[in-house]
Amino acid sequence: MSETAKLVYGDKSLEMKVTRGSEDELGVEIGALRAKTGLITLDPGFMNTGSCQSAVTFIDGDKGILRYRGYSIEELAEKSSFLEVSHLLLEGELPTKAQLDTFTSRVKLHTMLHEDVKRFYKGFPKDAHPMAVLSAVCGALSTFYQDSLDIDDPAQVDISTVRLIAKFPTMAACSYKHSIGQPFLYPVNAHDYTSNFLHMMFATPCEGYEVSPVVSKALDLLLILHADHEQNCSTSTVRLVGSSQANLFASISAGVNALWGPLHGGANQAVIEMLDQIESEGLDGRKYLERCKDRNDTTRLMGFGHRVYKNFDPRAKIIKKACGEVLGQLKKQSRLLDIAAELEEVALKDDYFVSRKLYPNVDFYSGIIYKAIGIPVNMFTVLFAMGRLPGWIAHWKEMHKDPATKIGRPRQVYTGATERKYTPIAERK
Ligand code: CMC
Repeated sequence: MSETAKLVYGDKSLEMKVTRGSEDELGVEIGALRAKTGLITLDPGFMNTGSCQSAVTFIDGDKGILRYRGYSIEELAEKSSFLEVSHLLLEGELPTKAQLDTFTSRVKLHTMLHEDVKRFYKGFPKDAHPMAVLSAVCGALSTFYQDSLDIDDPAQVDISTVRLIAKFPTMAACSYKHSIGQPFLYPVNAHDYTSNFLHMMFATPCEGYEVSPVVSKALDLLLILHADHEQNCSTSTVRLVGSSQANLFASISAGVNALWGPLHGGANQAVIEMLDQIESEGLDGRKYLERCKDRNDTTRLMGFGHRVYKNFDPRAKIIKKACGEVLGQLKKQSRLLDIAAELEEVALKDDYFVSRKLYPNVDFYSGIIYKAIGIPVNMFTVLFAMGRLPGWIAHWKEMHKDPATKIGRPRQVYTGATERKYTPIAERK
C-alpha cells in the first residue's frame, strides 16, 4: 500500500506520496506543491530537505551509525583498504581479489601527471593554500583529457574516474613540494596507494624516504573513514554542478572548494590551530569552552557538532582509538591529544553541549594523527579530499544514472523591492 501525507493550505489541499527507504527513512514528495497550492518549501541550509534517493551511504545520526553500501564503517576500517573501499563505493560491491588487482593496476597506470600539468604549479605563489591549488589543477585536468569529458559515455567516465583517483595523491604531493621549493617526485608504482603518496611528499631526488608501515596504514585508515558521508556540503556541490551536465573534473574541482571551508573539511586544520593556540598561549581549556558557548563570541569548539549526528560520530571513536595506537607505535607523545581529550571530557559533561547534542566529529582527532605522521597542517584538508574523492564520484555517477535527475535549481521567497520606476541618473538624490 502506498503511503501518502496530506497538506492543507486555505481551501486547497494536496495528497503527497511518501517514499520509504530501505532503512525506513521517509520522504514526502513535494514536487506538485507549488502548482497545486502556490506554496514552496523554505528550508535554509537544507536542514530538512532530501535532494535525491541514494544507495551509496546510510547514516543514522541518532544512533551514530555509518555504513557504506550496507557495510559498517567499523568493519571496513578494521578489515578493508582504501582502494577496496573505493571500489565498493564506485561499483556497489566489494571487489573479488581479481577485481581489486585489476583496479589497483589501472590506478597505478595513471599516477603520473602530464608534464605540462606540472607547469601550472610554478604559476602559484609559494604560500598558496594547497586546497586552492588542488582545485585549480583538478579543474585543469579537463583541458588535458578532452578525450574523456562525455558524461554519457560510460567508458569515458570510467577512465576519468581512474585518472582522478590515481592522480589526486600526485597532485596533492606536488602542491606541497611547490610550497617548500623542492622538486616534484615521480610516483613509484611499486608502492601501495598511501605509501606512494608519502614517498612523493617526503622523499627528495637525493634522499630516499623509508615509508613506515604504521604511517601508511594510519593514512589508509583515515582515507577509508573519509571516503563518503552521503549528502554533505561538498558531495551536494559535486551533484549540483554535475546536474548541469558539467564534466567530472569540473564537478570534482567544485567539490574540493566546498570541502575547504572551516565548517566542513577545513575543520581538521582549524582543530589543530585551536589546540596549538590553547597550548602555546597556555589557555585554560574550560575558559576556552566558555568562549565557545558565548553568543557574543564567534569562537566555536572546532571538531564538535554535526548536522546529522546527534550522538557520537562513529568515525571520531575509531580515530580517537587509532590516535593512541599510532602514537604508541611511533613512540610519540602528543600534548595536543591530552588537550583534546580534556576538552572532550569537559564538553561532554557541560549542559550547553549536552543539550545541543554536540559530540566530537571526524575532524576532532584526525589532525593529531596527521601531525604525528608528519603531514603539514595546511595539507590536512587535502587528505580529506583524497579520501572523499571516491564518494564524490560514486554520487556523481549515481546521479547521472537516476532517471529522476534534473538540473539542480532551488527556488526562493523573494524579499527585495517591489516594482519601481527607473530614475535617470541626473534626477537621483
Ligand atoms: N561549538 C559551539 N557551539 C556549537 C558548535 C560548536 N562546535 N556547533 C554547534 N553549536 C551550537 C550553535 O551555536 C547552535 O546553538 P543555538 O541553538 O544556541 O543557536 C546549535 O549548537 C546548533 O548549531 P548549528 O550551527 O545550527 O548546527 P548546524 O547543523 O547548522 O552546524 C556544524 C553543524 C558542523 C557546522 C557545527 O556544529 C559547527 O560549526 N561545528 C564546528 C565546525 C566543525 O567541526 N565542522 C566539521 C563538521 S564534520 C566533518 C565535515 O562535515 O566536514
